[in-house]
Amino acid sequence: NWTMVNIAEESIEAVRAQVGGKRAICGLSGGVDSAVAAALVQRAIGDQLTCVFVDHGLLRKGEAEQVEKDFVAATGVNLHVVDAQERFLAALDGVTEPEEKRKIIGREFIRVFEEAAREIAFGAEQGEAEPVEFLVQGTLYPDVVESGGGTGAANIKSHHNVGGLPEDLQFKLVEPLRTLFKDEVRALGEQLGLPAEIVWRQPFPGPGLGIRIIGAVSRERLDILREADAIAREELTRAGLDREIWQFPVVLLADVRSVGVQGDSRTYGHPVVLRPVTSEDAMTADWARLPYDVLQKISTRVTNEVPEINRVTVDITSKPPGTIEWE
Ligand code: XMP
Repeated sequence: NWTMVNIAEESIEAVRAQVGGKRAICGLSGGVDSAVAAALVQRAIGDQLTCVFVDHGLLRKGEAEQVEKDFVAATGVNLHVVDAQERFLAALDGVTEPEEKRKIIGREFIRVFEEAAREIAFGAEQGEAEPVEFLVQGTLYPDVVESGGGTGAANIKSHHNVGGLPEDLQFKLVEPLRTLFKDEVRALGEQLGLPAEIVWRQPFPGPGLGIRIIGAVSRERLDILREADAIAREELTRAGLDREIWQFPVVLLADVRSVGVQGDSRTYGHPVVLRPVTSEDAMTADWARLPYDVLQKISTRVTNEVPEINRVTVDITSKPPGTIEWE
């Protein structure tokens, strides 16, 4: 499509003009915005860009691999992966309060990212290249408007800034998507050759599965939720409903147990909550009327394939009064 070709070419030129021969870094979250911003900047300045992916262990099944393999395959970008799973688990140990979880995850994310940025800068100084001067952010037009038109992706809605970074990081910002809306970003991503799984990915919160486990986060609980979530997503995709449904959180009620029966034995397992919603912008949302046969398949598969889960429920609350996420 011609408009997108033009937008892509103009943006690539603008990034080249801004960054010149300097080095840049970009945090990848697995989400579409950071992926498209990174792909665009990579087209503009190639190896002067290094992407940083912090694996905090709160991702869904296959997501880390998607960034590590599919994104790199599609773009050829330099990727610096930090495996910070242990660190996040340790920091979250025993924490149940939602805001406290968010603060811990946000704080650890920034620390890990800063360490990575220093390592990259240090590595660069050893060789011929310049130290890192620019930070690429996938700020969209609605983010700019929401933060009052300032320069900061850093101050979007306070709880939305995991992946957004504080301004005292001392980088100059490169924000190639600042004039675009989400649908334009997706079109641009397709234009740049990114895989559909990345371009059409549903929104996913920065704190990840950490805020979809009601109760304390542990590796075992994450593994349980990851399995149930993967089944729900797979069945939604199979039913061809991915683009109709805005988001489909699966929530593990980790501190709740109920009695069930499987085969000849009594079970005492955990419930999960399916939270499919439709929405335009996540400010308001309605619970999605998923077809009964889709719900039935998910329910049967989750209780058969995830031994710790013996009950599947559906959240039928709109937003407001509910939020999309449970925490
Ligand atoms: P709520 O739960 O407030 O969520 O209805 C609205 C939208 O925001 C997403 N969300 C987040 N995104 N960091 C993010 O990047 C966060 O901390 C965060 N919390 C909620 C949520 O998934 C939904 O799309």
